[in-house]
Amino acid sequence: MQFRDSKLETSGNIIGFFEREFYVFSNFSSFQVEWCGRTWQTSEHAYQASHFFETDPDLVEQIHKAKSAHDAYKIAKANKDKVPKNWEDIKIPIMEDIIRNKVEQNPYVLHKLLQTENKLIIEDSPYDDFWGWGENRTGRNELGKIWMKIREELYQQKTKDNYLSQSTNKERKILITGGAGFIGTNFIYYMLKKYPNYKIVNLDKLTYAGNLKNLESLQDNPNYTFIKGDICNEEDVKKAMKDCDWVVHFAAESHVDRSIMDPDTFIRTNILGTNVLLRIAKELGIKRFHHISTDEVFGELGADGKFHELMAYNPRSPYSSSKAASDHLVCAYFHTFGLPITISNCSNNYGPYQFPEKLIPLFATNLIEDKKIPLYGDGLNIRDWIHVDDHSSAVDLILHEGKIGETYCVGGDSEKTNLEITHLILNYFNKGEEMIERVPDRRGHDRRYAIDFSKIKNELGWEPKINFEDGIKETLKWYKENINWWKEIKSGEYLEYYEKQYINRK
Ligand code: NAD
Ligand code: DAU
Repeated sequence: MQFRDSKLETSGNIIGFFEREFYVFSNFSSFQVEWCGRTWQTSEHAYQASHFFETDPDLVEQIHKAKSAHDAYKIAKANKDKVPKNWEDIKIPIMEDIIRNKVEQNPYVLHKLLQTENKLIIEDSPYDDFWGWGENRTGRNELGKIWMKIREELYQQKTKDNYLSQSTNKERKILITGGAGFIGTNFIYYMLKKYPNYKIVNLDKLTYAGNLKNLESLQDNPNYTFIKGDICNEEDVKKAMKDCDWVVHFAAESHVDRSIMDPDTFIRTNILGTNVLLRIAKELGIKRFHHISTDEVFGELGADGKFHELMAYNPRSPYSSSKAASDHLVCAYFHTFGLPITISNCSNNYGPYQFPEKLIPLFATNLIEDKKIPLYGDGLNIRDWIHVDDHSSAVDLILHEGKIGETYCVGGDSEKTNLEITHLILNYFNKGEEMIERVPDRRGHDRRYAIDFSKIKNELGWEPKINFEDGIKETLKWYKENINWWKEIKSGEYLEYYEKQYINRK
């Protein structure tokens, strides 16, 4: 391929793909613009022609009425002699205007543009010498340069957010299952704050882990509705999913230790419940079904390597097996029935509102109560910690821009042993090593988790933003300042669980 620029860094195939993509975006799609005080639903050829024939309004009208972009182009071409004198100066700004419109109005185009990273963008139009390589492959390619200029602007995060919010500020109704739990609660706050035009319906059974107090401040928010119900119950699901555009499915039994005590509840909610949701989503024609899953489906790692999307599933606890089964069901509804799904497999979350059965809130609240902290085994198991807000931003991005049918691994780039976490929490509360109580190890305890999140980083531009050292301090502060929230939880059923799990531990 002699005509290709030697500076191109990638294989001809990838470049060929982008050439085709941008050629299509640049030429034949229709779009909406403001021009001469009117909104035009127009082809870009017609928009160009509007400027091209500023001197001849009748011709402009004729072009705008053309049945297709191609017809508009033909009229324009036949009247080339009527071009204004300054056409050479204004054609590039006009084309920039057109491309900006495309990026703003179409998240897919934005997404594709960011995917090109720092590669040259080439318009491979055989018809048009100026905008493309041209018939004789002279390669002047002004259009490619404009795409690259806009990409540069997008790399300034501020501009990108701006584009994203403009292209996603539609009205939408989203069903969130399990929204009264830890991650669901944080996600609801995140979404309501970011998208004033979105309505959220929260379907939650309010098991021991669900807490309506978390969402008390939303009582009068017209964009938020709570429905108490079970994802295994078809009627509850139909009621909650009615008129929704999207579903984000968090509801689950989520604690590994409880799954070792009582696997049945995990099978019921995580597998059967997910199946009910998928079936009703298919019946109601849901436009996006995002399934929240865990990195634990991949099993455990040795000293090296990281989990990634192409890894084989190898779950080892009743919890992770039930999540793995639910992931498979979600994929099956995509392949068999065409349900538009996406999945994320995330690592260990930390942050406010986490039930005090999990490592960080359990140790923090025990120390505030001056109780010992039960460390399993040798304390050298490793988890990859991510702040819950970073998890929310990943899910948000996948919902808006993720590719249907795809799985994305999400992680915090922050591997720590349990012993490191323990020392950090002890230091924060000014407590000593004597507060650690070594207890027998968890059965089947996975040794190490770590996430390679390069797919979501490269394809959608996501990465975690909250540094672990800052995030953990802010989280521990939250537990210190919200004693009423967890004191109420650490009574009743919780005490029975604690006794079984820790006092009578074998
Ligand atoms: P959580 O236990 O704090 O909350 C679960 C919520 O689901 C609760 O509000 C509970 O009432 C609700 N629920 C349970 N069974 C239900 C049913 N049958 N019908 C309706 N609602 C029901 O869990 P979490 O930590 O917020 O996790 C949420 C999701 O994220 C889960 O799917 C979990 O597997 C996944 N996940 C969690 C983590 C983590 O570190 N916590 C990491 C990766 C993935
Ligand atoms: O990796 C994602 C998963 O992270 C999620 O899918 C689960 O829903 C979530 O509960 C979490 O699972 P873990 O088992 O990793 O989290 P947990 O907080 O229970 O335990 C973290 C580590 O701390 C683990 O190695 C076990 C250890 N641990 C935990 C508790 C509760 C202790 O040493 N002592 C404890 O008392």
